[in-house]
Amino acid sequence: MLESASALLPTSDGSVTIAVPKGRVLKQLAPRFARAGIDPNVLLSEDRRLVRSSADDRVHFLLLKPDDVPTYVEYGAADLGIVGRDVLLEREYDLYVPLDLGIGKCRMAVAGIKGAPPRSGELRPLRVATKFVSVAERYYRERREQVEIIYVQGSVELAPLTGLADVIVDLVETGETLKQNGLEVFADIVDITSVVIANVAAFKLKREPIRTLLDALARS
Ligand code: PRP
Repeated sequence: MLESASALLPTSDGSVTIAVPKGRVLKQLAPRFARAGIDPNVLLSEDRRLVRSSADDRVHFLLLKPDDVPTYVEYGAADLGIVGRDVLLEREYDLYVPLDLGIGKCRMAVAGIKGAPPRSGELRPLRVATKFVSVAERYYRERREQVEIIYVQGSVELAPLTGLADVIVDLVETGETLKQNGLEVFADIVDITSVVIANVAAFKLKREPIRTLLDALARS
């Protein structure tokens, strides 16, 4: 597993490879890395490089779609990763979760057209549009509510507006997207933050540099 990472990257002894999500959390991550002594400029530069290394080559970053971060870490292509708990809730991964960074705060919620919560006892099952199929299934199973889950990848707020679904299960951060589309939260499901995940083998084999980095990030 670790061989594949060293084949991919010019690693020197004791370096750590971290899978990070492209997108809004990256901007919140950068100051955390800076306070942990890792120059974040390499992360923030607007170019198309997907592998970026700190000046001293101690840390290598892989820039990924958030959903792919746990896959790279589970298979050892990265030693550590930063990912929202929402991604981890969707699938079982063989990983450690050693640190909650407390950034990327948002919540998973059920939402729909403002002032029109769906009534129970309708003739057909409630239609729920979401990217988070497992979370939605679990949520409604626990409530013994029969629903039809409709998978959509993004812009899920469109589903109730167009009649594709009655409600959505989605992430809400500021609530602005819901508001601007005439929707509101009907129920909260779970709070979400970004966490550090670790490859099981790397956590033992690279114990020292990983511990040092985690301690610095925890204090930052
Ligand atoms: C996420 C989420 C909501 C929005 C919530 O979408 O799916 O649409 O952010 O944020 P807010 O409460 O601050 O408005 P994202 O921007 O990641 O894009 P997506 O629609 O492609 O999932």
